[in-house]
Amino acid sequence: MSTTVTETKKNTNGQANGNESVSIRLTAPVKTVPLKLSGVLDGYARKEITPVIGTEFIDANVVDMLHAPNADELLRDLAIMVSQRGFCVFRHQSNLSIADEKLLCHRIGQLTTRPYTSSLYIHPVNQMELEDGSVDPEVMSPSRSTKKKLYTREGGYSKGSERNQSRADGWHTDGSFENVPPDYTLLHMVKVPVEGSGGDTMFASAYEAYDLLSPPMKKFLEGISATFMPWDHKPENIIDHMWKGTRGAPENQGPELRASHPCIRTNPVTGWKSLFAFGHHLEEFEGLGDVENRMMKEFVQRLITENHQLQARVRWEQDDLVIWDNRAVYHSATYDYGGITGGKRIGNRVCGVGEIPYLDPRSSGRRYALGMDYLA
Ligand SMILES: [Fe+2]
Repeated sequence: MSTTVTETKKNTNGQANGNESVSIRLTAPVKTVPLKLSGVLDGYARKEITPVIGTEFIDANVVDMLHAPNADELLRDLAIMVSQRGFCVFRHQSNLSIADEKLLCHRIGQLTTRPYTSSLYIHPVNQMELEDGSVDPEVMSPSRSTKKKLYTREGGYSKGSERNQSRADGWHTDGSFENVPPDYTLLHMVKVPVEGSGGDTMFASAYEAYDLLSPPMKKFLEGISATFMPWDHKPENIIDHMWKGTRGAPENQGPELRASHPCIRTNPVTGWKSLFAFGHHLEEFEGLGDVENRMMKEFVQRLITENHQLQARVRWEQDDLVIWDNRAVYHSATYDYGGITGGKRIGNRVCGVGEIPYLDPRSSGRRYALGMDYLA
């Protein structure tokens, strides 16, 4: 099944450029077939962080998994578990090198549904500088350099903004402004704030957000797309220092950083629908008027921020690794360190690029699939 949508290009002031348009083909598999756990991880002690979202492995080591004789079986089930639970936490992965973190990201994608044309994501402007002065484009590390940021404003992240009374615009999914956005993100926290707390990452279930919608609202959102772009993005601000090649998929290139995606998408690993149209990259719900857009954005934001039963919080410890599925969860950092407390937080982030987002109308929500169909 494939669907072609026409996106009207806008200039940097947000105005339509006459008849200039580009067609983006949204291609779905003939039929989404959910992947099943084999049970190979049953011997690994773990606990659910909440009933809805998040699993923490107890004493597991991902490097051992990565190089085990049955690594393919282990990593395939790990990827499925991440997609089902939204994210998985591995504590104290002190022997995880950047090379192994990248290999792990490659394998969990390749062993599930990542297309052969997709690889590791390259951020448009933030690539890791190694100790020898070279650059690894497939790793991103938080930086205070303005040349490594996409935003001309930062929603209350900047110094002196401690009294911002809403951090709701910190929520996002990684790279949703790309035509082919990331599937899995791996974040290895190699330095935590010196105080021993702060910088927690919040997660929220996009499956549960979909399941909370009323049937008429599900039907409405399943019929429209949304555009995504970094806040106030202007191509001319990055054109001279951006990554010049493709960014993990042939469809991801150029300085526009603007993409159209279905508001409700199907996760190809679980086969479950999620609400994708949310986060600080969301520009507009296509086809709605300006007031309708503001109302819809506020509604979606309230749905996620006012329902803490779909949220979970990870408190980082030294060398923790968290793997999440950007199709299944939103996330937000917590800016209660750094400028406020003087501490630092350094993590190595690797993302895999997934498939072109699609909605398979034959797929269902998570609750329905798990037999919790009272809201389906
Ligand atoms: Fe992120």
